Amino acid sequence: MELLENLKWRYATKKFDSSKSINEEDLEKLKQAVQLSVSSYGLQLYKVLIIKNDELKLQLKEAAWGQDQLTDASHIFVFCNYTERKNEHIDEYIQATSKTQGTPLEKLEGYRNLIKESLSAKPDTAWQSWSEKQTYLALSNLLTACAELKIDSCPMEGFEKEKFNSILGLDQKGLNAAVIAPIGYRSEEDHTQFRTKVRKPKEVLFEELL
Ligand SMILES: Cc1cc2nc3c(=O)[nH]c(=O)nc-3n(C[C@H](O)[C@H](O)[C@H](O)COP(=O)(O)O)c2cc1C
Repeated sequence: MELLENLKWRYATKKFDSSKSINEEDLEKLKQAVQLSVSSYGLQLYKVLIIKNDELKLQLKEAAWGQDQLTDASHIFVFCNYTERKNEHIDEYIQATSKTQGTPLEKLEGYRNLIKESLSAKPDTAWQSWSEKQTYLALSNLLTACAELKIDSCPMEGFEKEKFNSILGLDQKGLNAAVIAPIGYRSEEDHTQFRTKVRKPKEVLFEELL
């Protein structure tokens, strides 16, 4: 299974080779992998910013405790969840489902109401957490797709969200930077790549109920 080899190959890259850039063809494949991510109800309640601009990268690095990945990576993916629940998000999804799958809108009414009721029943903190969780599924697909293309990546929560939101103008768009991933190509000088992975043994990680 090649996937397992790819997962062993990847690691959270600490030092990228800043002279190397991801080509457009690979970038399109990565976008598609993110687009195909699963999400609760299929709503995809997030937006993904892809940053290549050097000036922006520098500003973001300052808001990420100076971590070099922010400036050395080829691109930075910023996964942003919507901060407010809006009926229009659900309505848009139902419209798209009807159009794409040819299902009459009246047949989707029950599903539309079920989603609305379920989301509005969540307390604010639960909504915020649920909304951020959705972005991690997309992040995971990005990391796996990168590994298949032999593109390096580093998932990161080590950044100041308020500063990211302000630098990227996310507040005005009702968005919040949940998690980020600089991607590019590892530097030969990154010694982390030679470290053996630390993972729990399967006997500890899994419990099979037979
Ligand atoms: C959600 C998340 C946030 C992370 N934040 C950071 C970070 O801010 N900086 C960093 O260098 N690594 C970060 N990591 C990388 C982890 O430390 C790394 O994935 C873990 O130690 C396993 O190592 P591996 O990815 O090299 O196999 C993060 C990983 C995840 C999944």
